[in-house]
Amino acid sequence: MMIANKEYAARRKELMSLMQGNSIAIIASAPEKIRSRDTHYSYKQNVTLSYLSGFPEPESVMALIPGREQGEVVIFCRDKDPLREIWDGYREGPGGAVANFGADDAFPISDIDDILPGLLEGKDRVYYAIGKDPDFDAHLTAWINDVRSQRGSGALPPGEFVDLDHFVNEMRLIKTAPEIKVMRKAGEISARAHCRAMEISRPGLFEYQLQAEIEHEFMASGARAPAYSSIVGGGKNGCVLHYIENRDKLEDGDLVLIDAGCEFEDYAADITRTFPVNGKFSEAQAAIYDIVLQAQADAIKVIGPGIEYNKANEATIRTITQGLVDLEILEGDVDELIAEEAHREFYMHGAGHWLGMDVHDVGDYKIDNKWRVHEPGMVVTIEPGIYIAPDNTNVDEKWRGIAVRIEDDVVVTKIGNEVITSGVPKARDQIEALMAT
Ligand code: GLY
Ligand code: MN
Ligand code: MN
Repeated sequence: MMIANKEYAARRKELMSLMQGNSIAIIASAPEKIRSRDTHYSYKQNVTLSYLSGFPEPESVMALIPGREQGEVVIFCRDKDPLREIWDGYREGPGGAVANFGADDAFPISDIDDILPGLLEGKDRVYYAIGKDPDFDAHLTAWINDVRSQRGSGALPPGEFVDLDHFVNEMRLIKTAPEIKVMRKAGEISARAHCRAMEISRPGLFEYQLQAEIEHEFMASGARAPAYSSIVGGGKNGCVLHYIENRDKLEDGDLVLIDAGCEFEDYAADITRTFPVNGKFSEAQAAIYDIVLQAQADAIKVIGPGIEYNKANEATIRTITQGLVDLEILEGDVDELIAEEAHREFYMHGAGHWLGMDVHDVGDYKIDNKWRVHEPGMVVTIEPGIYIAPDNTNVDEKWRGIAVRIEDDVVVTKIGNEVITSGVPKARDQIEALMAT
């Protein structure tokens, strides 16, 4: 299951249809990053280039030139080099860029200084994500100066830069059917991984051992990386929202909060589950858990076409505030507490975010300062939580150090929504039943 070449071609075509006449778009690959001396971090392609081509290699550049007679899609990439390929692996070469990635024309990257100024020359506008890669910004400036320097012989440099990502990001926000298929699969794999962690959990294991179970399932299922650093926080570590040390021992009687999702075929999943290390919720843990679960259910009810993005967030705030009042953790009138944002002491993040090729995916949340409304093909996470700091002396001791978050991935459909991460249980009795097997 992969994104097909014709889908990439359709994306490029749509982007080119949005570009004004006589313009060029330039998209560079991400640089490789050194981890230690001469070894690199595993390579992550620039997502804009992935989205528009699927081209996986570093040291590549794509130019889109609507209306160019010799072809609109030009790729520069590393040339074939049998000796280097023995050391560093297969390269597509310009031939592969044409045969396998939809380029009309392709050249060795070593020729780009000679060719790209000629492609820029005479264009009115350059669509480019300026400021994201200072090294490539400098190259582009040099090519434009190259055109300027030939002004005397009639060459005209482009007069205007336009933010390319603004256009691409809006396209990425609405997922097509093939994208949703891949995201479903990312959700399924990630859900299985969470089940595996629940099944194996017991007091005395270390947080990193649950991380290992989760990431084993990702990799064994063909998802070659987590979409973000896996969070496995036992007990009070769950109160640290981005806890990624994952090094403590899991204690009997504590909860463990796991926020982990795989990246499958370039698309992210993002799931959080919170469960008792020993398989049985205590009374206090259950009380907090059920509020968060209800808040999530109430939010998912307001995901659907035509509904404002922020309605889900508002639903979680109401349910959590009411729940905390019921447990006497907060005191006062629910509407007044909501107006004062009293929940923020215990629920300090929003209900979710867009999800796609980036875990915190691109796309504006507001248009003209108003929350945008859901459209079919948007994908959001819904992830309410309650975190009671271990040193919060304003609350009864029995609540301190309890942290619960529950997160699922939700696709907006024509008639409502589809939760694509429901393969891992979240009702308390279902979690306890799975952990008892
Ligand atoms: N995993 C990051 C988040 O839930 O937003
Ligand atoms: Mn998450
Ligand atoms: Mn999330």
